[in-house]
Amino acid sequence: MSTLTIEDLTVAYGDGAPVLDGLDLHIGDGTVLALLGANGAGKTTLLRALTGLVPAGGRVLLDGADLTGTATEDRVRGGLALVPEGRSTVVELTVEENLRLGALWRHRGAARRAAVAEMYELFEPLARRRHAPGHTLSGGERQMLALARALIARPDVLLLDEPSLGLAPLVVAQLLGVLRETASRRGLTVLLAEQNVTGALSVADRGVVLSLGEVVADRPAAALAADPALRHAYLGF
Ligand SMILES: Nc1ncnc2c1ncn2[C@@H]1O[C@H](COP(=O)(O)OP(=O)(O)O)[C@@H](O)[C@H]1O
Ligand SMILES: [Mg+2]
Repeated sequence: MSTLTIEDLTVAYGDGAPVLDGLDLHIGDGTVLALLGANGAGKTTLLRALTGLVPAGGRVLLDGADLTGTATEDRVRGGLALVPEGRSTVVELTVEENLRLGALWRHRGAARRAAVAEMYELFEPLARRRHAPGHTLSGGERQMLALARALIARPDVLLLDEPSLGLAPLVVAQLLGVLRETASRRGLTVLLAEQNVTGALSVADRGVVLSLGEVVADRPAAALAADPALRHAYLGF
């Protein structure tokens, strides 16, 4: 269980105008937050800034502890996990090897085997393909593996960048369903960046819309989903 507090977060690339401009956001324990916004709104930049992969002004607090200036690996050890866009599995390794790799620093021996088995329970398609090399997996299986590899390290805060991109609707529903269930069961705090607004809001507690580096809407997910004017203004449909 963890809370994430973002204060006055500002990111600019090179000499350009800020991509995120004084962003404030508080994400409570066990909340699934859908991070929405048109292409280029700054969703990926926010997730990368939270993990320390891009330099940022302002402060990021995890359970009140200031992460500002700390290295990415320390943030990961502190409980943050990022699943970047593009299904980052190691394609030369099998499903099982990928999972064991994800569990490496967190679990040992029997605990590691138990953690791998738990992921197979959550993601049944992965259990069937445990000895398959990463490059032979379908897009959906690969995204499941990327998610499982993050979850196996038992993060407190999970940052997901467009997990549904390019996947069939049925696969998206399955993936987001497992995410919602796991978040509820473990009290996981989730930041789900998505252009799939309907899918993201269907599993989220709360939705935040980014536009031009700022938060332009912050509401319960159901209220946001029911507001066509807002969707039209900021999300392009
Ligand atoms: N490495 C980079 N260098 C320069 N500009 C970048 C870089 N990454 C992203 N940007 C710019 O920052 C803005 C936000 O991008 P991004 O965070 O990827 O948005 P989103 O994930 O919401 O599509 C865009 O205008 C994009 O062109
Ligand atoms: Mg992005």
